[in-house]
Amino acid sequence: MDLKKFVRDVPDFPKDGILFKDLTTLWKSPEALKEAGKKLLELVDNHQIDVVIGIESRGFVFAPMMAVELQAGFVPVRKKGKLPAQTLQAEYALEYGTDVLEIHTDAIKKGDRVLIHDDVLATGGTAAAVVELVQRMGGEVVQCNFIMELGFLNGRGKLQGVPVAALLDY
Ligand code: PRP
Ligand code: MG
Repeated sequence: MDLKKFVRDVPDFPKDGILFKDLTTLWKSPEALKEAGKKLLELVDNHQIDVVIGIESRGFVFAPMMAVELQAGFVPVRKKGKLPAQTLQAEYALEYGTDVLEIHTDAIKKGDRVLIHDDVLATGGTAAAVVELVQRMGGEVVQCNFIMELGFLNGRGKLQGVPVAALLDY
């Protein structure tokens, strides 16, 4: 199945001149949703995973499905101010300014094997902040796993030393 056929191009979103790759059309198709979930798991060579992290919000679609299949737990990384208990924070760069991602301090134990999932790898700032959080907690990042990678933005450059895998390259 050619999953790229299910990705919708939306011109001028979020602003003029940007051609946005919309995954909602892939998620809506029962066949593409199932196939993408299966293919994402095939990217993970070592299935000894304790925790799958999903990055708010578009990383929340597949991360729990993968966690179930890998017999791992699901842990959310959320934008600042959303998690109720004690958190660890990491700042990351946006196009203009910075933002903060948070994880519960008790969500990862030292030595946990962690799979990080998000929908898109663009500049890599978001995923790099999550790698930093996991490593500060003593977890081992087994892979950063994405549906789509915008290779021309070289997000992998910010994820050196960590295995990176994506289903679809643009
Ligand atoms: C988008 C996307 C990734 C991130 C990739 O999320 O879902 O999480 O940007 O960009 P980067 O590699 O340049 O950091 P966004 O922050 O727009 O929020 P959302 O997932 O809540 O829509
Ligand atoms: Mg996101």
